[in-house]
Amino acid sequence: MNTEQTLRTFTDFYRERGHHLITGSSLLPPDSDPVLFTTSGMHPLTPYLLGRPHPHGRRLLNVQRCLRTTDLDEIGDLTHLTVFEMLGSWSLGDYGHSQSLRWGYELLRDGFGIPHDRLHVTVFGGDDQVGPDTESLCTWRELGVPVEPTGEDNWWSNGPVGPCGPDSEIFVWTGDIPPQGTPTTDPRWVEIWNHVHLRYQRHEDGSLEPLRQPGIDTGMGLERLLTVLQGHNSVYETDLFEPWTRLLPPLWGLDEPSMRLVHDHLRSSIVVLGDGVRPSNTGRGYVLRRLLRRLLTTLRRDGSPRTLSDLPQELIEHTLDHFHQPSGTGPIRDELLEEERRFTKLLERGRRVLSRSEFQRPLTDEDFGYLHDTHGLPRDLVAGLLTTR
Ligand code: SER
Repeated sequence: MNTEQTLRTFTDFYRERGHHLITGSSLLPPDSDPVLFTTSGMHPLTPYLLGRPHPHGRRLLNVQRCLRTTDLDEIGDLTHLTVFEMLGSWSLGDYGHSQSLRWGYELLRDGFGIPHDRLHVTVFGGDDQVGPDTESLCTWRELGVPVEPTGEDNWWSNGPVGPCGPDSEIFVWTGDIPPQGTPTTDPRWVEIWNHVHLRYQRHEDGSLEPLRQPGIDTGMGLERLLTVLQGHNSVYETDLFEPWTRLLPPLWGLDEPSMRLVHDHLRSSIVVLGDGVRPSNTGRGYVLRRLLRRLLTTLRRDGSPRTLSDLPQELIEHTLDHFHQPSGTGPIRDELLEEERRFTKLLERGRRVLSRSEFQRPLTDEDFGYLHDTHGLPRDLVAGLLTTR
């Protein structure tokens, strides 16, 4: 199943069950929200999960692009992405957890064709504040799916305060041999979907208050689902990255992890630019600038003259098309090239300053502060230059 078919199967399934597809899936949360970028499918829905009526009713679905910088050091491996998409479904005080799990099972088995015997689930086994999630346990037993109870791994919250509750995670067996072990004992069980029963609100003092209107929040990462459905080990082998893996390696010839980082950071930067963010030294613009600088540093690591001027137009087009962003490839390309020019200048200045005799010794925090404040040279850039001199 390719990306298009997977998205359609998901949205059709929930639409047929009375869910409204909500739009407005930009990476930028509303102004009233203090976070820089949307980090999960449920994030923009938090007020409604706490009880505010939603204009589109009590059953919703969405395909939400998300950006996370918490895993930045993992980028370059086979599974982590900076910008990814969450397939989400919600019940705002409508149906309960058991119904959500039954639909989840039906969609995976009949919609996506995942064999019953390749599924395993985990449920919340209880802790000193909340008892075990027996509703989910019974539902999975009725469906004949093996269940493993765990502790905090099956408790979901979006932060220290706010809506939270027990969740049930669905895993798919990805090994070449028949399934064995459980999700906590064998990594070939890969988690693809999380169904959260938002039953509580956590307060500052750590106490839990039952929600008047418990809700359901489910989230499934599109890229991981595609990897499993298409039988790959790496997200970069799915059709979503097809033009990237076809066009860039012959052009830039980097080692595999560096190539993956370049794919991820470039694609993420295009999406962030497509949502209207421009590079700057603060806030969202700084996140974008860091992504681009890490990418450019990787491109030039071995002193090669690789440049974004050679970036195939098709990759910008493909990304903007996929995310339904109308910005046009021209302006995005111009921004990328402008940022590359700025970075080149900064590097030149950095090399010049660091070649002075006073810096021919290990640098102190004070030096880093001076280089930043007086010469506009960020610490990570200076650190990068020091490793290559
Ligand atoms: N909020 C849950 C998650 O992010 C399910 O959407 O995993």
